[in-house]
Amino acid sequence: MASRESDDRSAKVKLPAIKFTKLFIDGQFVDAVSGRVFDTIDPRTEEVIAQIAEGDKADVDLAVKAARAAFDHGPWPQMSGSERGRLLMKFADLIDQNADELATLEALDAGRLLTLTKCIDIPCTADCLRYYAGAADKIHGETLKMPQAMLGHTWREPVGVAGLIVPWNFPSFLLFACLAPALAAGCTVVVKPAEQASLNALYNAHLAKLAGIPDGVLNVITGFGPTAGAAIASHMDVDKISFTGSTEVGRSIMEAAARSNLKSVTLELGGKSPLIIFDDADVDMAVDLARTAIFFNKGEACMAGSRALVQEAIYDEFVRKSIVKAKEWVVGDPFEPHVNQGPQIDRKQFEKVLAYIEHGKREGATLLTGGRACGEKGFYIEPTIFADVEDDMMIAKDEIFGPVLCIMKFKSMEEGIAKANKSSYGLAAGVVTKDLNVANTVARSIKAGMVLINCYHMGAFDCPFGGYKMSGFGRTFGLHGLDNFLQVKSVVTPLFNSPWH
Ligand code: NAI
Ligand code: MG
Repeated sequence: MASRESDDRSAKVKLPAIKFTKLFIDGQFVDAVSGRVFDTIDPRTEEVIAQIAEGDKADVDLAVKAARAAFDHGPWPQMSGSERGRLLMKFADLIDQNADELATLEALDAGRLLTLTKCIDIPCTADCLRYYAGAADKIHGETLKMPQAMLGHTWREPVGVAGLIVPWNFPSFLLFACLAPALAAGCTVVVKPAEQASLNALYNAHLAKLAGIPDGVLNVITGFGPTAGAAIASHMDVDKISFTGSTEVGRSIMEAAARSNLKSVTLELGGKSPLIIFDDADVDMAVDLARTAIFFNKGEACMAGSRALVQEAIYDEFVRKSIVKAKEWVVGDPFEPHVNQGPQIDRKQFEKVLAYIEHGKREGATLLTGGRACGEKGFYIEPTIFADVEDDMMIAKDEIFGPVLCIMKFKSMEEGIAKANKSSYGLAAGVVTKDLNVANTVARSIKAGMVLINCYHMGAFDCPFGGYKMSGFGRTFGLHGLDNFLQVKSVVTPLFNSPWH
């Protein structure tokens, strides 16, 4: 049985001092107006890492005021794209120079594997900035050949003050997925990191200032969703919201936007993504892929492959081998290099995942392995697999957001596709087969924003990402990501010899 490793080798990792715990408004770290603070917790131990300023509506008002002034009167939207790009490149270099500290903070704050934050997340945030820094001087409009001797052209202008509401599962990466294009477009921003993992957003605010990004362009309000987050979503002077998180809160963001100033909204929400495995697949490869698809980042991934749909001829072998592989998946301290899975983010998520497991048992699914918390302290859960899962069970429908795989059987390709699409979500899907025709048919038939063939958890900055159905709308990454923060203005003028001249 995979169990939590309880040695204290992580003591060897030097934990950084927590330097930034206050709100960042108009280029300064400041206390909340209320003076309140909240605890940020180490999910390995449930101990308090630091106390962070608890911003609410009053602080959001100050941050939006600073962002508004920086947008309306400051240099940021006015400067050339290449100059903005140059400052963003500098910001990226500073992230690289401080990568060890940023990676350690994120592993500590969010219970994420240190090797992953070090090798992937933090370098990726710097590269994401560079990708959009390179795009900042390539924001062009069109020229229009209009009738009646009129000349038209379009400008693509920054949308204004953007509110970026970010979740905790990839605190840096998902911040930069929206922050980098917003800044490159010339917007000014108010960031609301998730209350569970705010440390890196504050550290990055400090780096942005060092890079020379003008005061007021990037503001960070730490605090809770229903107070700080909701105040941004309903603010009359915020022009755009980019939200990543739960479908439930996504809905409330749209409602707040509709009730206030009709600000535009981009939503990147949850999923219940299928991995469809066909009879001709290499079963060992499929088992490995399915394990990564669900257990990567402890199942706290919006595109987690949480439903493995397996064709009947290989079903039994797949199930047998999956149990063995799950037991080899090491749960333990995320600072240890040989560990595959750290603790869930907080007590709420930990209890939610365990409650779903209990529910799955009551619904009649077969618990093959895992199913329990592990370790004396911290939010560790065993990699868990259910078989004999039916489409209408709650564990097959809801986003559990933890290390819980549901295995289901299908007969024909048509049935596999139908089962895959039987979800209110549509974020991603995987297909495992050697048959190109099958792969192409599935890719065309799946209602999801991303289809991965014989791979999973892959992507790149030029690969658009986002949902169909209740997984949201709008696309992150690629130039689509930049479009989220731009609006088009058409300008029309008579030509020299037009009748209006
Ligand atoms: P959440 O959606 O409540 O939190 C995401 C962000 O929204 C946080 O910054 C939070 O402070 C903010 N927020 C919460 N309520 C708000 C409101 N009324 N107005 C404005 N902002 C608000 O997610 P939570 O509660 O942390 O996790 C619950 C479930 O959501 C998870 O179990 C998972 O299923 C899903 N989730 C999905 C994510 C994804 O990447 N698609 C990321 C995080 C959570
Ligand atoms: Mg919540």
